[in-house]
Amino acid sequence: MIYCFSGTGNSLHAARTLASLLHERVTRITDKTEPDLAWQDAGEALGLVFPVYGWGMPRVVEHFVARLPEARPDTPRYVYAVLTCGDDVGRTDRLLRKALWQRGWQLHAVFSVQMRNTYVCLPGFDIDTPQTVEHKDSLAGLRLQQIARCVEARGSSTPRDVVPGSFAWVKSYVLRPLFNRWLTSDRHFHCHTLRCTGCGRCMRTCPLHNISLDPQAHTPRWQGHCTHCLGCYHSCPQHAIDYGFFSRHKGQVKIIG
Ligand SMILES: Cc1cc2nc3c(=O)[nH]c(=O)nc-3n(C[C@H](O)[C@H](O)[C@H](O)COP(=O)(O)O)c2cc1C
Ligand code: SF4
Ligand code: SF4
Repeated sequence: MIYCFSGTGNSLHAARTLASLLHERVTRITDKTEPDLAWQDAGEALGLVFPVYGWGMPRVVEHFVARLPEARPDTPRYVYAVLTCGDDVGRTDRLLRKALWQRGWQLHAVFSVQMRNTYVCLPGFDIDTPQTVEHKDSLAGLRLQQIARCVEARGSSTPRDVVPGSFAWVKSYVLRPLFNRWLTSDRHFHCHTLRCTGCGRCMRTCPLHNISLDPQAHTPRWQGHCTHCLGCYHSCPQHAIDYGFFSRHKGQVKIIG
């Protein structure tokens, strides 16, 4: 079983590719998904595929891992994770390893895969150029085949399977808490009402069902339980959603659904 969280579709694409190579199933993680481990006695592997947000796990994935049932010592399991990212993951692999360990689980293999960047909410961050996307896509395809071979053999990963980037410790243990504290809520989202047509696509895209449409104005309202995936920003056909000032005039990626 592969459990996947995805805001804009990169991780979903990675999970589906792995699932087809490994003949496994994909279940999407939302805030309501309870880990169903009824399959565990069959010895099936447990895969987690999700994006790196602010050099760590998305909140919804943290909550999911925290709800895993405590591991039983008599049940053999192979657990692996695929972290999709635009550039580098900091110490996300260690944060995940620790969170699993707190439930009694061991992480046997962890891999990062570079895919399209989706982060646009700070100065200096924008989506990739088409050339970069093409390059990343072709490497990601090969990388997922490599990962599938390792998982099939129930192998371990090596430190080179994860790209931490520079200043990884500072990013994950100093900047990440600040990022989570100030930049991962939905309070800075707003909609340019003159551009919004009330189509509701942002609402339907939100994996956490965190958006409703104002009954009178038909514009989005954010409900306060956001994991900051930017699905709403990227999915708007009118480019009517912004996060504070800094996402203005930035690009949008096509959502893979
Ligand atoms: C809020 C947010 C934070 C992000 N932080 C990072 C990061 O720390 N490092 C990185 O390389 N990419 C980062 N990214 C880019 C995503 O990890 C990357 O584009 C990912 O593949 C998106 O996956 P998804 O389409 O499944 O949501 C971030 C994206 C978002 C929306
Ligand atoms: S409100 Fe937007 S950013 Fe927040 S979880 Fe929903 S789609 Fe993602
Ligand atoms: S997707 Fe854009 S145009 Fe459609 S309701 Fe949301 S903000 Fe308005």
